[in-house]
Amino acid sequence: MPTMPMSFAELESRAAQAMPPTVLSYVAGGAGDEATQRANTDAFARWGLVPRMFVGATERDLSVELFGMRWPAPLFMAPVGVIGICEQGGHGDLATARASARTGVPMVASTLMADPLEEVAPELGDTPGLFQLYTPTDRDLAASLVGRAEAAGFAGIVVTLDTWLTGWRPRDLSTANFPQLRGLCLANYFSDPIFRSRLASSPEDDPQAAVSLWAQVFGNPLTWDDLPWLRSLTTLPLIVKGIQHPDDARRAIDGGVDGIYCSNHGGRQANGGLPALDCLADIVDAAGDTPVLFDSGVRSGAEVIKALALGAAAVGVGRPYAYGLALGGADGIVHVLRTILAEADLIMAVDGYPTRADLTRDTLREVR
Ligand code: FNR
Repeated sequence: MPTMPMSFAELESRAAQAMPPTVLSYVAGGAGDEATQRANTDAFARWGLVPRMFVGATERDLSVELFGMRWPAPLFMAPVGVIGICEQGGHGDLATARASARTGVPMVASTLMADPLEEVAPELGDTPGLFQLYTPTDRDLAASLVGRAEAAGFAGIVVTLDTWLTGWRPRDLSTANFPQLRGLCLANYFSDPIFRSRLASSPEDDPQAAVSLWAQVFGNPLTWDDLPWLRSLTTLPLIVKGIQHPDDARRAIDGGVDGIYCSNHGGRQANGGLPALDCLADIVDAAGDTPVLFDSGVRSGAEVIKALALGAAAVGVGRPYAYGLALGGADGIVHVLRTILAEADLIMAVDGYPTRADLTRDTLREVR
């Protein structure tokens, strides 16, 4: 008998019992009354895949070529800045990297880590990892973080555009809950030579001053004028996260990015928006040959398949693996990823779409 849940609903409810209330509130919560967060998950039910028979899809190939890498499956772990404290021992970034190594499912590692990126990267083993940058206002610090990620072996840089400030999150506001302001998950800043050089005393001697400086430099309200500078920071593939308008996708591609990441941050940043899934097809059309990553609301293998059919090159999950980690450590993440992949693979078999290329938009119909 499996010890881990086989459905997302059970995973969510058991993780809720395992997580400390402050961590649960931060992970499960979203912006406003969370209507956009719910819409993200509900949007998938409006699409159905039409099965094909006499295909004999005894072997399936989910692999995908992305940014010069071969991923065994078009699934990845989206950056979760408090993944460190989702693990009971407080080293969730390391546990996530180990789960990535075991499954081949890439991790997009957040700037906000409980352990420095140099300690997380080696745990990825042979699986490529991406580093997600929250661009600080201090340009030297931004360059330092990207340089460290490159040196540590990350294979691409994901710049998140939708979180230069934190959205209106009533669950956390009502309990004055913001983990970073308690000094949590700031290891990449506190270990950074540029960040440390800006402080009179070290973060170890004066953590309060270090947290204060972090709060001042964290969010950079980037404009299009900053894109050439961002592009100049790295020769690695550069991917921009948070794109929901096709014009933004086109302009970012004109500015030299290598990938577009369609996401509304899991409904955590702005309430009152469209489900991210409803933005995907237009973004894919606008992006042309540039790959489009997608996340927000994906909870199952069936939903991965639908996002692929709408044109995503690869699909990310956020909260599901955070819950797996809270419940079962690295083994819990491995379980969550394997259940998603197993369901996706079985759907491709049963519905007669053996390869990624077979999953075109024509395979979907809107549910009436
Ligand atoms: C996030 N997300 C996020 N994104 C990012 O670019 N950097 C980050 O540090 C974080 N941190 C973070 C913390 C928590 C607790 C959550 C739930 C999410 C957003 C994340 O990458 C992704 O866009 C969403 O989680 C996808 O939606 P689902 O799968 O959670 O519905």
